[in-house]
Amino acid sequence: MALLEVKNLKKVYTTRFGGNHVQALSDVSFSVEEGEYVAIMGESGSGKTTLLNILAALDKPTSGEVLLNDKDIVSISEKEISAFRRRNLGFVFQDFNLLDTFSLQDNIYLPLVLSGTSYSEMSNRLRPLVENLRIKDILTKFPYEVSGGQKQRAAVARALITNPKLVLADEPTGALDSRAADDLLQIFSQINQEGQTILMVTHSTKAASHASRVLFIKDGAVFHQIYKGSLSNEAMYQRISDTLNIIATGGDRNE
Ligand SMILES: Nc1ncnc2c1ncn2[C@@H]1O[C@H](COP(=O)(O)OP(=O)(O)O)[C@@H](O)[C@H]1O
Ligand SMILES: [Mg+2]
Repeated sequence: MALLEVKNLKKVYTTRFGGNHVQALSDVSFSVEEGEYVAIMGESGSGKTTLLNILAALDKPTSGEVLLNDKDIVSISEKEISAFRRRNLGFVFQDFNLLDTFSLQDNIYLPLVLSGTSYSEMSNRLRPLVENLRIKDILTKFPYEVSGGQKQRAAVARALITNPKLVLADEPTGALDSRAADDLLQIFSQINQEGQTILMVTHSTKAASHASRVLFIKDGAVFHQIYKGSLSNEAMYQRISDTLNIIATGGDRNE
């Protein structure tokens, strides 16, 4: 059974007065197996963030189905949603979403505090993350006192501390310099090797070349996908670039 199953997802945004319709997703279907590392690419405006928001149950689709761990998250009740999200999902947002009035440590603890976890359990979980992410020395600092890369690492720790079944990341390297981006990609590869499932939206070919599969979205649907298999990062990079060129020049995958 797949960890995540997305079936015929459609999202039409309507303006407040119902005048304008934007079809962000027309018919998206794919599934993700437990332990996969999937990157999603597509031009700006192709519906990537819309898709991620729906997968995170932050937004509802116009129609279609999303099964996470066999649970239909489209029809889940408002009451259940926060707890389900905390138990199953970790998010890494492009703008980090850290609270400025909390230290980094308190930011990282927040999802566990919300689910009533004991302090000793929280600190047990924090320890290995702090090592891996190299954030021990900055835990007592506030978000405005650290660099973008450090904020990003704290955001990753916060996403992982609940040990989520699925990690969702929207352009996680978008705001990072190349060294911090490399660090983050290494962390993602490592947690994936340790069994965590990752779904990452990215416009970085380099970031995507680390994933085990890349899905390309165009005109609100999955246009193509590439499996990494035994390809090197460099060979994967080349195949992704070629596919992006085809998409940009309006090519047809069947040609
Ligand atoms: N809240 C919204 N209301 C109306 N239109 C939206 C909204 N969010 C996104 N859109 C539109 O939906 C399309 C897909 O947007 P988005 O999912 O943000 O794309 P991407 O993340 O791939 O850049 C775009 O045309 C965008 O303008
Ligand atoms: Mg986006």
